[in-house]
Amino acid sequence: MLKKIINISKVYSWDTTNNVLDIKYNQQILVNNTKISKIKSNIPDQVDEIIDARNCIATPGFIDSHTHPIFIDNRADEFIMRLNGLSYNQIKQNGGGIISSINKVREASFEELYVSSMKNIKPFIDFGTTTIEAKSGYGLTVEDEIKSLKVIKKINDNLDLDIIPTFLGAHAIPPEYKVNEYVDLVCNEMIPSVAEEKLAIFCDVFCEEGYFNIEQSTRILNVAKSFGLIPRIHADEFKYFGASKLAADIEAVSADHLMEISDEGIEALSASKVIATLLPGTTFFLNKKYYADGRKLIDNKCNVAIASDFNPGTCTIRSLPNIMYLSMQNCGLTLEESFLGVTFNAAKSLLKSHEIGLLAEGYKADIILWDLDDLCEIPYWHDSSITRVNRVLKNGKSIINQ
Ligand code: NIG
Ligand code: FE
Repeated sequence: MLKKIINISKVYSWDTTNNVLDIKYNQQILVNNTKISKIKSNIPDQVDEIIDARNCIATPGFIDSHTHPIFIDNRADEFIMRLNGLSYNQIKQNGGGIISSINKVREASFEELYVSSMKNIKPFIDFGTTTIEAKSGYGLTVEDEIKSLKVIKKINDNLDLDIIPTFLGAHAIPPEYKVNEYVDLVCNEMIPSVAEEKLAIFCDVFCEEGYFNIEQSTRILNVAKSFGLIPRIHADEFKYFGASKLAADIEAVSADHLMEISDEGIEALSASKVIATLLPGTTFFLNKKYYADGRKLIDNKCNVAIASDFNPGTCTIRSLPNIMYLSMQNCGLTLEESFLGVTFNAAKSLLKSHEIGLLAEGYKADIILWDLDDLCEIPYWHDSSITRVNRVLKNGKSIINQ
């Protein structure tokens, strides 16, 4: 099946050779089944379908490299508690936080969790997101973590969105365990079962005070590595105690949050291949004063991606245009850097930069046509950018067609 897209005003992609934004004018895109086979000015007419872009701009499908969408219900009560002056940590002490999401996930049948998680995930597509990473982490028993990862697999099979699974058994310590007993369970039972059933590509840890310390996180991620799972880390969100340095030492693909990263952490990331992933939607949603300093990270030669962190407790934003806006307004990123953060650098953090994140020949035909004149209008419209998505192609198939 050959399709060609005509009348595109500008094709935006990242020039990976010169490390700059690439803007091409008067180009057509030829899609051969699921892939882009040509981008050039004049493609012959022998095709099965011609898509008229009507002067839209084209970008790669956006990639959300950090989400927690496998949950039931919501935690809107915590939003009200925060307005009444309680912090995320105080809410946790009062029985809220991550642990308060586990009861419903544990009680839910596979089908109930599937239906609820599908509702959480489907709207990502409307904002032009064509790939997400999705974490388990609200089950925290062997059975419920496996159930969550199987839900991810089934949604991936049934939705026109690629979902890359991450095992996050080390998200919090369930009340029935002492921390070291729970780390034993994660290492001795959860990781081997997840690996055996091939249910995850990555293993994440919430490496933070009150959750998993450096020693416990190191142990979990080393076991994960020995089972072929690739580490990523929730690092330096509320306090710096060396999680980003651990990310570098253990060769994680990504260190995420980094609101409280220190100079030592920045140095470690900069000397490594770890992608520094910023989640400014969480800072916004928790109404925190200080955002991650993306400018400093980039000026120190770190590779920066940005993602939503969509979850029931600390960020209900799914829109990556919204996240671009927040990263530019509050983390010091330029338009170009924020675009790179939701495309090529996000793909790198998922080890997929050979097939997604660029509009280039041989890449997946994941393409957004925006009814806009210029790239800067994507973050400009942020929450209402949805009204400007004219068409989304996923693996060459039109999944949104306005
Ligand atoms: O990335 N930090 C850990 N996990 C989530 C929060 C999840 C929750 O509160 O349910 C995060 O912000
Ligand atoms: Fe997270």
